[in-house]
Amino acid sequence: MKKVLVATEKPFAPAAVDGIREVLDKAGYELILLEKYTSADQWKEVAADVDAMIIRSDKATADIINAAPRLKVIVRAGAGYDNIDLEACTNNSVVAMNTPGQNSNAVAELAFGMMLYQVRKGFDGTSGTELRGKKLGIHAYGNIGKYVAEIARGFGMDLYAFDPFVDKAEMEQDGIKPLDTEKALYESCDFISLHIPANEKTKGSIGYELLTAMPPKATLVNTARKEVMDEEGLIKAMTERQDIRYLSDVAPSCRAEIEEKFPGRFVFTAKKMGAQTAEANINAGIAAATQIVNYLEKGDETFKVN
Ligand code: 3PG
Repeated sequence: MKKVLVATEKPFAPAAVDGIREVLDKAGYELILLEKYTSADQWKEVAADVDAMIIRSDKATADIINAAPRLKVIVRAGAGYDNIDLEACTNNSVVAMNTPGQNSNAVAELAFGMMLYQVRKGFDGTSGTELRGKKLGIHAYGNIGKYVAEIARGFGMDLYAFDPFVDKAEMEQDGIKPLDTEKALYESCDFISLHIPANEKTKGSIGYELLTAMPPKATLVNTARKEVMDEEGLIKAMTERQDIRYLSDVAPSCRAEIEEKFPGRFVFTAKKMGAQTAEANINAGIAAATQIVNYLEKGDETFKVN
């Protein structure tokens, strides 16, 4: 019987685990559940005889991959796969996959939740501002960016986007003004919603220059990855520009400094919360389980990333 390990330090909603179990049961596979593990050793121990793994932001290092000699496929139930050592996977003939799009709506909704919390001053009873009529810049127009645009249209925001990989005609069709450079986007918009992946090119790429290009009282909303920020540049920009704000799904490493120096100008989540909904967990979890069965039974490599 094939064994599939679900290793999640931040567990899926129970309904998602039920959905995964159902898919695996039907295929005649065994589900092994490792939730809220506290060390890599715990994970390595159960990884020793599994054929497949489903993870979230869990760090699938070379150490973990090497500890799983029977492993054939690992699926990141989510979009970003910067937490998987792809080289180790390839070296061990392990296929790595993600489940793009499955949790996008949840992330987009969180971006608006954070914006509303900010403009309504944390619901503290004082007068705030509105989103209607403000300019929203979508930095990367992929699965999440599209949901962000859909919601923003409902709020009556003016939409702009920068994404060199997306056809401008497609953006225009969606009522979005495509801009040619990152700088032009940051210069033009009251809010920027960031949806770039974290990779060697993007890590540390959003910093002083882009932040200080933003108009008065502008807000950067980062529901992507904290690693894409140049945190030194962020602090410098927030120091020089006392009007700009930074909202982030998971706090930056410089959280303490921002909290001390810039009260009222930030919102940080306690853990990465973007995909932390029952619906997103169900969608991504079931997609991951289905992809594993399809790969092991039919060799289907859709969504392979290595
Ligand atoms: C993703 O890349 O899909 C999101 O960041 C979600 O991550 P999570 O599953 O760890 O919440």
